Amino acid sequence: MLIASLKPRTMGGTTNTGLLTYALARAGHLVTCYDADESLQLAAWARDAGDFPCEVHVADTPAFAEAVYPEMDHDRINVVDAGHAENHPDIVDSILEVVDLVLLTLSPTNPDYERLTKPERGTPLAKVIKRSAALRASGQPPATYVLLNRCQAGASSPRKYADLLLNGGKDGTDHKWSVLSTQIPRREGIASAVGFPCNKPERKKPYDALVTELTGLGHLPQARR
Ligand SMILES: Nc1ncnc2c1ncn2[C@@H]1O[C@H](COP(=O)(O)OP(=O)(O)OP(=O)(O)O)[C@@H](O)[C@H]1O
Ligand SMILES: [Mg+2]
Repeated sequence: MLIASLKPRTMGGTTNTGLLTYALARAGHLVTCYDADESLQLAAWARDAGDFPCEVHVADTPAFAEAVYPEMDHDRINVVDAGHAENHPDIVDSILEVVDLVLLTLSPTNPDYERLTKPERGTPLAKVIKRSAALRASGQPPATYVLLNRCQAGASSPRKYADLLLNGGKDGTDHKWSVLSTQIPRREGIASAVGFPCNKPERKKPYDALVTELTGLGHLPQARR
């Protein structure tokens, strides 16, 4: 299967991709990563950390569906970190053609919510995902969940933005997103995770919860051990 980590702009996407990968491996899954962001920070993380649990293939190509996807081992969980959907729409379009599950990283703040739902320039991501259906074998858009990150403990903003996303905005006319109950907290240990070993509890616990939730939702295969 293929999971894509998407975001409209810089939102913590690579952090979530990498720490989810560690959590999948901890849960016993065979994982392979693909770095489809030309900044190549996921690939550098795997090179530098020492304990990164799998290979990361460089795959920042708009021919992702034609050139990268057919070569994958589809019995493993393949995870792709995509660059900004705003700046690399061609690569994101190609990933959306073949992906099984989209995790969309979003912080519960007004600028991030606006960039997702009503960008001043470019196509809203909901529309990009919907129109991918035309090129997919199933004819349906991929299962997509918003993963709220950088959530401040005790703050009201995660609930507020989760409600706006779930309900289609204030007047209910926008896209209604599925939102995961797992929230990634705002933590220094997570802020500094990219490029370093996964050796702190805060780099593990929320992502283990994410794997548990995705398994419960029926989106992950049985772990090998
Ligand atoms: N849970 C968190 N708590 C605090 N800071 C975080 C958290 N997750 C990410 N960050 C911070 O957010 C910033 C962006 O993270 P990251 O590089 O993962 O995002 P990205 O979406 O991959 O960015 P890019 O657009 O460069 O690919 C970084 O400064 C990182 O330290
Ligand atoms: Mg990144």
